[in-house]
Order: sequence, then C-alpha cells, then structure tokens
Amino acid sequence: PVQQNLAGQHWVITAGPTMEAIDPVRYISNHSSGKMGYALAKAAQARGATVTLVSGPTQIAPPANVKLVAIKSAQEMLYACRAATAKGADVFIGAAAVADFRMKDVAEQKMKKTSDSNDLTLTLVKNPDIIATLSSEQAAQCMVGFAAETQNVLEYARKKLESKGLDLIIANDVSRSDIGFNQDQNEVTVLSKDQQWSPEKSTKSALADELVELIFQYQQTQTSD
Ligand code: C5P
Repeated sequence: PVQQNLAGQHWVITAGPTMEAIDPVRYISNHSSGKMGYALAKAAQARGATVTLVSGPTQIAPPANVKLVAIKSAQEMLYACRAATAKGADVFIGAAAVADFRMKDVAEQKMKKTSDSNDLTLTLVKNPDIIATLSSEQAAQCMVGFAAETQNVLEYARKKLESKGLDLIIANDVSRSDIGFNQDQNEVTVLSKDQQWSPEKSTKSALADELVELIFQYQQTQTSD
C-alpha cells in the first residue's frame, strides 16, 4: 500500500485543454490529453490527499475519489480554481494547457460564410494566467506549474517560475515526439528557485507518483525552515 503521507492535505490540480467558444458550434482549443494532470490527481489521492481536479474536456474517466470540476473555458477554470482554493489549499498544480486567447466577443448565432470575402478575421483577447493569478492571491501554500517548451527548455522554465511566482516548475521538451503531448511517457526536469531534479523517463503514471513525492518532500523542507 502507498504511504498515506498526504492525509489532511488539499491538492487542487488543473488538467486538459480549455475550449474557447467562437460561436454556438465552434471553438478554439488544443491537443492536450489531460493524462499528466489526471495521473497527478490519482497519485495524490492514493497518498491520502483530498483532491479537486479542475478539468477541461478530456476523454479520460475521472480517477476514483477525486472531486472533478468540469469546465470549458479559461475563465471558467479560473473561477472554479478560486472556488476550490477558497478555504485554502496545500498544493496547486497547473497541468492544464490553457488557451492563451479567447474571442473578444463570442458570436450569439452561428457565423455565416459570406460570398464577398475569402478572409475572416477573429479578434481575440488574452485569457487570464490562472496560475500566476492564483499565486498572487496566495491561493495555495505551494504553487507548481508546468513549462512545455521546444527550445531553451530550462532557461524558459526558470523565467516562468519567476514571472508566475511559483515554488516549483516541471519542465518538459515538447519538441520530442516520444514524450509530452498525448504520449503515455514523459521525461521532465523539476526546478525550484535554487534546486533541480531530473526523474528518469517513465510512464506518466509512474512519473506522477515521483512528482507527488518530490512536491511533498519540497513542502517538508519549506515548512521546517
Ligand atoms: O505560459 P505557459 O502557458 O507556458 O505556462 C505554463 C504553466 O502556466 C502551466 O502550469 C499552465 O497550466 C499555466 N497557465 C495558466 N494559465 C494560463 C496559461 C498557463 O495557469 N493562461
């Protein structure tokens, strides 16, 4: 049996893509499968944590004994995360692939093709950065983000760690076809302000276990300071 060292803790985890409506039948989204976030939720629950999983649309069955909050857009994800952390949270993990932009105005009716133009311009506005917002609001004691990069992976990840006010960032190289997006395997490097860890490449579920343990160990060093 897994050690129940997270008993009494509340972990809030985001997962999957967000879906930003264009009109009643169309949307902007991305290829995130949600696998990593769901695996983290399962691993934290197995160690005794109370887990809230705030998830965009995925094809994955929610893990048992995890509170699933299903949302579509980034704005809905932010509100759901605020509600989930309202009474405090020990750990927040942002594993969702949040759409950077949404429609400035969602069309109320299905947009029609017009015969007079071959171009269509959609005006988009920036979505809130959920993890950065929650970090500034001190929504959880330990804030953990992901950085999916295709080059200068560690350098960009470190910048995100700082700019988003995170405690830990989990960096992965999404230019590699064997890991990351939609794959069952992942290989990551975890960074804190002054430390770095490199768990071995493994399945997302085995890696999730290691990451949950690593986050727990990091928490212990922070609270004993
Ligand atoms: O900036 P980038 O999207 O690469 O940052 C990745 C990290 O920030 C992930 O943890 C992701 O869940 C989080 N994020 C967020 N809200 C956004 C964009 C990213 O919470 N709007």
